Amino acid sequence: MADQVKATNITWHHADITKADREKQHGHKAVVLWFTGLSGSGKSTLAHAVENALYQMGCSTYVLDGDNIRHGLNKDLGFSPADREENIRRIGEVSQLFVQAGVIAITAFISPYKGDRDKARKIAGDGNFIEVYVKCDLGVCEERDPKGLYKKARAGEIKEFTGISAPYEEPDNAELIVDTSNETLEQSAGRVLDYLRKIEVIV
Ligand code: ADX
Repeated sequence: MADQVKATNITWHHADITKADREKQHGHKAVVLWFTGLSGSGKSTLAHAVENALYQMGCSTYVLDGDNIRHGLNKDLGFSPADREENIRRIGEVSQLFVQAGVIAITAFISPYKGDRDKARKIAGDGNFIEVYVKCDLGVCEERDPKGLYKKARAGEIKEFTGISAPYEEPDNAELIVDTSNETLEQSAGRVLDYLRKIEVIV
């Protein structure tokens, strides 16, 4: 599905206002901040904590969250490897549109397959893509079980559940690793913000 090209006879129209123009207007660089990790690892919580802090600094941001996007844009996709691939491909493209609009796009998807994350990285262009591995022991995620899904997965009520009956491929090229089983939310968010300062996305 993901590699199918059906559109023909189409022409790219170049915009007059560039990403650089928008970055100048917004006073910061536009990048994709890509959070990956198990369900319950804290991706959404961390994404929103980082967004809140950036918003207070006057930055233009937007959080794309797996559960939310699956209510609309991606409601036609399930959790098979092919559907997850398409889910991540679309978000890779959408986050790229946000970056072109001069926004810091913050994504919170399990994105369990390394190859799918690498494709999203390629869409953004290497320097525009910051992969943050939200690391958390499966046991801790299962203990937290904020949506009661691990319990259902263990009972066999949810098929292909990441960490239980579907794989999670740990990143080996993440720009940053935060360990939410051993750090507070403030510490993890602070480390993400420090990294953004270090690479001069924000000043
Ligand atoms: S991804 O694997 O395609 O990146 P995504 O982040 O969009 O997943 O959605 C994950 C969320 O969907 C989980 O946090 C959970 O709330 C819900 N969910 C429902 N079924 C599953 C499943 N089989 N595996 C993982 N998450 C699931």
